[in-house]
Amino acid sequence: MILLILRFLLLIWPARTEIAESANTALPGCSDSCSGVAIPYPFGIGPKCSMSEDFELSCVTINRSSTPYWGDLAVLDINLSLGQARTSTPISYQCYNSKTKEIKYSDWSVWVPPFWYNHEKNKFVVIGCDTLAFVNFTNDQNSYLCGCVLGCGSLENMTNGSCSGIGCCENSIPSGTNNITLWFDDKYNNSEVCSFSPCSYAMLVEEDGFHFNTSYITTSQLQYQNTSVVIDWAVGNTTCNAARTSKSFACKSKYSNCSDSNSGPGYICNCSDGYQGNPYLQGGCIDIDECWRNNNNNLQECELNWVPLVGICAGIVALCFLGLGTYMILERRDLSKIKEKYIQQHGGWILLEEIKSKQGFGFTIFTRQQIEQATNNFDRANIIGYGGQGTVYKGTLRDQIFAIKKCKIIDESRKGEFGKEMLILSQINHKNIVKLVGCCLEVEVPMLVYEFISNGTLFQYIHSKKQGSCISLATRLRIAQESAEALAYLHFSASPPIFHGDVKSANILLDQNYTAKVSDFGASILALTDEAQFVSLVQGTRGYLDPEYMQSCQLTEKSDVYSFGVVLLELLTRKPVIDFDAPEKEMSLCTRFLSAMKEKNMQNLLDDEISNEDGMQMIMEVAELAKQCLNIKGDERPTIKEVAEELDRIRKLKLHPWDQVYTAEELETLHSQESHNIVIDHSEYFSMDKEAEEIIDVGR
Ligand SMILES: *[C@@H]1O[C@H](CO)[C@@H](O)[C@H](O)[C@H]1NC(C)=O
Ligand SMILES: *[C@@H]1O[C@H](CO)[C@@H](O)[C@H](O)[C@H]1NC(C)=O
Ligand SMILES: *[C@@H]1O[C@H](CO)[C@@H](O)[C@H](O)[C@H]1NC(C)=O
Ligand SMILES: *[C@@H]1O[C@H](CO)[C@@H](O)[C@H](O)[C@H]1NC(C)=O
Ligand SMILES: *[C@@H]1O[C@H](CO)[C@@H](O)[C@H](O)[C@H]1NC(C)=O
Ligand SMILES: *[C@@H]1O[C@H](CO)[C@@H](O)[C@H](O)[C@H]1NC(C)=O
Ligand SMILES: *[C@@H]1O[C@H](CO)[C@@H](O)[C@H](O)[C@H]1NC(C)=O
Ligand SMILES: *[C@@H]1O[C@H](CO)[C@@H](O)[C@H](O)[C@H]1NC(C)=O
Ligand SMILES: *[C@@H]1O[C@H](CO)[C@@H](O)[C@H](O)[C@H]1NC(C)=O
Ligand SMILES: *[C@@H]1O[C@H](CO)[C@@H](O)[C@H](O)[C@H]1NC(C)=O
Ligand SMILES: *[C@@H]1O[C@H](CO)[C@@H](O)[C@H](O)[C@H]1NC(C)=O
Ligand SMILES: *[C@@H]1O[C@H](CO)[C@@H](O)[C@H](O)[C@H]1NC(C)=O
Repeated sequence: MILLILRFLLLIWPARTEIAESANTALPGCSDSCSGVAIPYPFGIGPKCSMSEDFELSCVTINRSSTPYWGDLAVLDINLSLGQARTSTPISYQCYNSKTKEIKYSDWSVWVPPFWYNHEKNKFVVIGCDTLAFVNFTNDQNSYLCGCVLGCGSLENMTNGSCSGIGCCENSIPSGTNNITLWFDDKYNNSEVCSFSPCSYAMLVEEDGFHFNTSYITTSQLQYQNTSVVIDWAVGNTTCNAARTSKSFACKSKYSNCSDSNSGPGYICNCSDGYQGNPYLQGGCIDIDECWRNNNNNLQECELNWVPLVGICAGIVALCFLGLGTYMILERRDLSKIKEKYIQQHGGWILLEEIKSKQGFGFTIFTRQQIEQATNNFDRANIIGYGGQGTVYKGTLRDQIFAIKKCKIIDESRKGEFGKEMLILSQINHKNIVKLVGCCLEVEVPMLVYEFISNGTLFQYIHSKKQGSCISLATRLRIAQESAEALAYLHFSASPPIFHGDVKSANILLDQNYTAKVSDFGASILALTDEAQFVSLVQGTRGYLDPEYMQSCQLTEKSDVYSFGVVLLELLTRKPVIDFDAPEKEMSLCTRFLSAMKEKNMQNLLDDEISNEDGMQMIMEVAELAKQCLNIKGDERPTIKEVAEELDRIRKLKLHPWDQVYTAEELETLHSQESHNIVIDHSEYFSMDKEAEEIIDVGR
């Protein structure tokens, strides 16, 4: 039993420690590490991911192992708060071959502008027993020459661990230098001491990591090794005070401080007290949540005082408890860490900081617990639909009803951008667009929380042919225009523009007044780019997808226009977009429509309810508009703004009786619907459209 618990603990330990990770981050969309070396901004891999050329690294892969390189130098780690980085630097050597009597040597010149060698941590070290080595430290203005001479007849009196002057000499280096050249004087060439010391070495080395070892004298292997050298880096070439006024001031986070570099011009940024993260990124510094951290530490201390030693039996019981207790603490601590990790992964810190800085922002970050409570632990009974990328639940939180979308998966490479994207989406505010009211980031795949729209989807409204569910032309045109305006807002007023990517009647919701509310507009942003996802998207949106998009996989604003054209057809015909019962040629509503237009034979396709004399002119104009939207060539389609304007014009064509929000007939329709639930007639329309079939009773 104990063994079992111990083994269990052992099993879970390694997994636990992996989760702790630094809060430093790269630019969104950029890789934040190379082969385990964290690469925080301003550094980055490639020109787009780094602040400037000076901070550009490359992740070089040789024989399946990769290494980050800064110029010719391999980078070991980068420390943001100190403004330092460790690099791997070759050792200079001079070796005497007693057989050939030849001297082999390498003189290195390593330069690191615009950065500098750290003068406090690095030392110039020479090893050997018949050696005179020089180093020339230079920068733009100065040069300093320094040398070491060593002579020893045997290994006697050498001590391990200290560079005492016997066999090893060390010297500090001047500050502010960025070019070193190491060389040996060839009069001292190891020929006299080659019996025990074939080589001499000269190097720049981080003092902390260097311990002299008498084996260095006797070996010839150091010539193949590198030392770690600390480099000071800084941004800009001015002081903080001078830089602060400039637009390119690099301390982007609101909660950051600036300090001048000790080694040369330029400055480094740090997060203010109580914050941590990356000060070079907007929103990069995050409040350290001291509360739960302390909480967890205390908990752990309490538990560990529990070790009782009362007899074997009690011992076993106690051990079991201890194991369990420790496990539970670990679990608890981990949950927080995992949550934190997810928030971090999703770029949530940006969002959190933004929300903190803006009052009345109208956007809530929900906790996992709240969401679970609201949806009764994702009870199937609360499912109100299956969207393109996930399941939509109805949830009640603080007496308010929300629609909660749980995405299936999220594109790995774009994970970090989630927070930023939420920020964009949360600022969308249009009367015909479903409002995004919050999100939950504490989970592996983020969840989106939308306002709840009560009267179902346009899809249900159109395709439920219940008795009396007659929809007037005026209502259809209004819904069309409202939807077009919503899309026009996304395309032209949102910054940056948002392409919906999944326009269809099932994504247009209706509120109590049958006002159109476009939903799921985040879909395009969250959409995966890989093939599997594309295939599922194509399936889910069959009949609506822009043929150009299917070929290029490139979503454009005109893809939305095409899909909207299909919605217009649905409104005009009340027929399914794809009719699987029909012969193959007539399956697609779009194809049928286009050929009907060609043959001037629209009448047959139209919904009987609206094809009366009065509305015919308007209907034909809408049909013409739909035809333009469905143009095979994206470039030749109108913009959604033009579509909205055209619909507006058509609606005004005949002011009476369509100038009112509701006609008497419409009101009657509405009444009749009160008593009938809109029920999807599965047999007739949806056996083919899995997704539509799964939309169960939306809004009730
Ligand atoms: C890569 O592997 C090959 C064959 O194993 C070896 O000859 C070569 O030296 C390796 N290169 C490096 C840089 O390690
Ligand atoms: C030594 O350093 C150089 C330059 O940083 C690098 O290219 C090389 O791979 C390093 N070699 C070893 C064995 O680390
Ligand atoms: C940077 O250096 C400081 C001081 O030595 C240390 O506390 C911190 O952990 C280092 N950060 C990283 C990312 O190595
Ligand atoms: C050291 O470097 C500087 C600048 O490159 C050069 O002018 C000077 O001659 C060098 N000194 C020696 C002794 O090589
Ligand atoms: C080692 O140190 C002792 C005592 O200082 C000295 O007598 C001896 O000559 C030294 N040996 C060598 C090889 O320098
Ligand atoms: C130093 O360490 C090496 C290797 O462990 C050992 O061979 C040598 O005798 C040691 N030298 C002294 C002076 O302790
Ligand atoms: C570095 O200094 C050496 C002389 O010490 C000089 O020859 C070399 O050109 C310098 N390198 C650069 C890039 O300035
Ligand atoms: C090594 O140095 C000795 C003494 O300075 C000299 O006599 C000898 O020629 C040198 N050997 C070589 C290969 O340069
Ligand atoms: C000295 O170096 C040898 C070989 O690199 C190593 O085995 C030994 O542990 C080192 N000794 C000390 C005291 O560092
Ligand atoms: C400082 O940097 C800016 C931009 O990189 C550059 O234009 C300017 O010449 C630099 N000034 C100095 C004194 O190096
Ligand atoms: C749909 O809207 C009508 C008219 O406002 C309303 O009476 C009815 O209750 C709504 N239906 C549902 C299911 O909310
Ligand atoms: C529906 O319309 C009425 C009257 O215009 C308005 O008071 C009400 O707020 C609307 N309901 C919704 C959900 O927009």
